[in-house]
Amino acid sequence: MSTKHHIIVGGCGGMANVWLDYVEQRENASIVGLVDLNKEAAQKKADQRNLHVPIFTDIATAIKETGANLVFDVTIPAAHKQVVTTALEAGCHVFGEKPMAESLNDALEVKKIAERTGRTYSVMQNRRYLKEIRSLRHFLERDGLGKVHTVNVDFYLGPHFGGFREQMDHPLIVDMAIHTFDQARYISKSNAVSVYCHEFNPTGSWYNGNASAICIFEMADGSVFTFRGSWAAEGFRTSWNGDWRIIGTKGTAKWDGFDHLTTEIVKKPSDTAFLKETEQSTILNSWTGKEEHAGCLDEMFAALEENRQAETDCHDNIHSMKMVFAAIESAEKGEKVYL
Ligand SMILES: NC(=O)c1ccc[n+]([C@@H]2O[C@H](COP(=O)([O-])OP(=O)(O)OC[C@H]3O[C@@H](n4cnc5c(N)ncnc54)[C@H](O)[C@@H]3O)[C@@H](O)[C@H]2O)c1
Repeated sequence: MSTKHHIIVGGCGGMANVWLDYVEQRENASIVGLVDLNKEAAQKKADQRNLHVPIFTDIATAIKETGANLVFDVTIPAAHKQVVTTALEAGCHVFGEKPMAESLNDALEVKKIAERTGRTYSVMQNRRYLKEIRSLRHFLERDGLGKVHTVNVDFYLGPHFGGFREQMDHPLIVDMAIHTFDQARYISKSNAVSVYCHEFNPTGSWYNGNASAICIFEMADGSVFTFRGSWAAEGFRTSWNGDWRIIGTKGTAKWDGFDHLTTEIVKKPSDTAFLKETEQSTILNSWTGKEEHAGCLDEMFAALEENRQAETDCHDNIHSMKMVFAAIESAEKGEKVYL
């Protein structure tokens, strides 16, 4: 590992801890400055973590004064566009929290700036880095289910966040579903081409905006991905990863979003029975990398050092962003939207 990464962390809130924990474990990376609009938040973070680095309130000055070559953007979504573009223009690579921006146009603009500056911008999609979902994709790549034609996910939780999420117009789709949509792209290795979305706010919801949605996506490979979800659903909670059913020509896989990853495969395809006999088994773990943020950050650093785009580079992530904004457009228009 020859490259030395000199990192500025922008945004010193709760999520920054996960990113800072990672850097502590990495030999060729060090924090050279902390930035937060709220100087006290940055100072508090430095004190808590025993980091003896300068504190700044804006990214441009921080980069100039420290000579950083990498910026972690862990600010709030509304600041992502400004923080990322400032860092790219100043010659830094960026690893940032989801979402890329608050609108698709802003995200497309940021991607263009990454292209023009020749810097990379990789986006955190930690929910791809779980051993179950990675083993599932490996199983599908080995033709475990044959041709996959249907991917369904149910996502039902009742979190009482308080704060900004309860004021948003589209809390579920904008703040959460990007993870699930990105997971569906990862599983199916295909991008969405159309969506019909019905969004609603269920009776008794404690959100101002629509906390529930049902989406039907057609994917480029011809498969159909459906998402049914709510953040205002009490009882029988699913995992935060959702509850998945993947159907292919040989059989079905189910992942409960936790650690149950099972299949039911037709025993004898030539069987002429009314309902063919199937055999259950468990998909064994085939992922040896790290999980969650650490797994995604390992890939981001590896890509930077190997001079290639990371799996969750902005050029890939824009396809998950498109799913989010097309779903909202469909819900608002009450019609199917093409991406
Ligand atoms: N991947 C995940 O699973 C996951 C989970 C939670 C949050 N997140 C994302 O992480 C990001 C941060 O979330 P959080 O919970 O830490 O938020 P937070 O509100 O706790 O912290 C954000 C910090 O950014 C600072 N900030 C805002 N604008 C800034 C700017 N222009 N320059 C510098 N600092 C600025 C704020 O003062 C605040 O201290 C969000 O994008 C959120 O969506 C991701």
